[in-house]
Amino acid sequence: MKILAIETSCDETAIALAECSKNKFKILANELNSQVKTHKRFGGVVPNLAKREHQRNLVPLLINALKKTRLLNLKFKIQNSKGQTKIQKIDKILEREPELFIQVKKFLVKYQKPKIDAVAITYGPGLDPALWTGINFAKTLACFWKLPLIRVNHMEGHFFSFLLSLKKEVPKFYILNSIFPVIALLASGGHTEFVYSPSLLKYKLIGETLDDAAGEAFDKGARLLKLSYPGGPELSKLAEKGNPKAFNFPRPMINSQNLNFSFSGLKTALLYKIQSLRTLNVQNIAASYQQAIIDTLVSKTIKAVKKCRPKSLILGGGVANNELLRKTLKEKIKKDFPKIKLFLPKKKFTTDNASMIALAGYFHLLKKEFIKPEKLSSKANLRWQRSKNFQGD
Ligand code: KG4
Ligand code: ZN
Repeated sequence: MKILAIETSCDETAIALAECSKNKFKILANELNSQVKTHKRFGGVVPNLAKREHQRNLVPLLINALKKTRLLNLKFKIQNSKGQTKIQKIDKILEREPELFIQVKKFLVKYQKPKIDAVAITYGPGLDPALWTGINFAKTLACFWKLPLIRVNHMEGHFFSFLLSLKKEVPKFYILNSIFPVIALLASGGHTEFVYSPSLLKYKLIGETLDDAAGEAFDKGARLLKLSYPGGPELSKLAEKGNPKAFNFPRPMINSQNLNFSFSGLKTALLYKIQSLRTLNVQNIAASYQQAIIDTLVSKTIKAVKKCRPKSLILGGGVANNELLRKTLKEKIKKDFPKIKLFLPKKKFTTDNASMIALAGYFHLLKKEFIKPEKLSSKANLRWQRSKNFQGD
């Protein structure tokens, strides 16, 4: 079967098509449009601009994905009046996305229903205006084509992204028989959390940041150092050339017993440091600041491992792109917990993409966790999956 997946929770518009069967998961198309240029001059993501960009990009990306997979076919006949009525029905769903509606209408009039079996959509968490553009788009397609709709938690996508990296095709679901219980450190621009998973699709949130996320600490630190947006990768690149011991930044909450984080004080410490120095060695500052974030993440991860004694450890989210974090975790786990399997996603799957949503969506589909698109509430609680699954049993 084929799953179409849509992700618009932040500033990446992403569409993927995946072929799934019992033992196989193959990405047929992985389309991505990054809005870095749009948000750069504001130094961060502007939700309404993200919404505008998603409206513009969704249909072209869908067309690309369908073209690449040879699933895009012109209709034989011009739409009859019955078809027009069907289109009128969907204009209600997209009433808050007028620009997208025009494109969707043209698309649905022109092209046949592609041979796909379900639509998976990121249903939260994320930036509301951005998120809802994707949700309404997915709902429209699923309603029009009469397909089941699968709601996916964005962080769950990050959780599974390591599976996308196990070679090109992933007939590797057998691996899922042996990895649980798992702890995942999911660190992105909006979230930093520990998830304990005793078995497939069962989650318990066991720790999270009380204020800024780790990616946010990188981004805000980068802004203070006047680096260009997005700051995380820029700051870590600069850090490669610096001395991580040059400055001693705090390691917040490193000695607390719980598995929570707090990164907001760190950026304040950086601000004071910058103000107190007459000359700035930005490389040294970046390296020391990065070291403080990574030490905190790694030390809390070790605490989580000691507490929960999992079989495996998963790293996911944009910050999993950070080389120092990957290297330090690898070394630490190998040395102190050699029996624990560590799964790292390939760098290209660490940041937001729709393939991870297709994959998580497929697992939900197998468990018959999908709905008729008409049943999707327009006032849904975006944290539903988190309270149902992530707070767990
Ligand atoms: O998961 P993601 O793509 O989007 C969200 O769901 O937030 O994560 C983006 C975050 C940004 O804060 C970005 O600065 C950070 O991941 N990031 C990095 C690196 N690459 C991306 N942080 C540190 N080092 C990196 N190499
Ligand atoms: Zn993300």
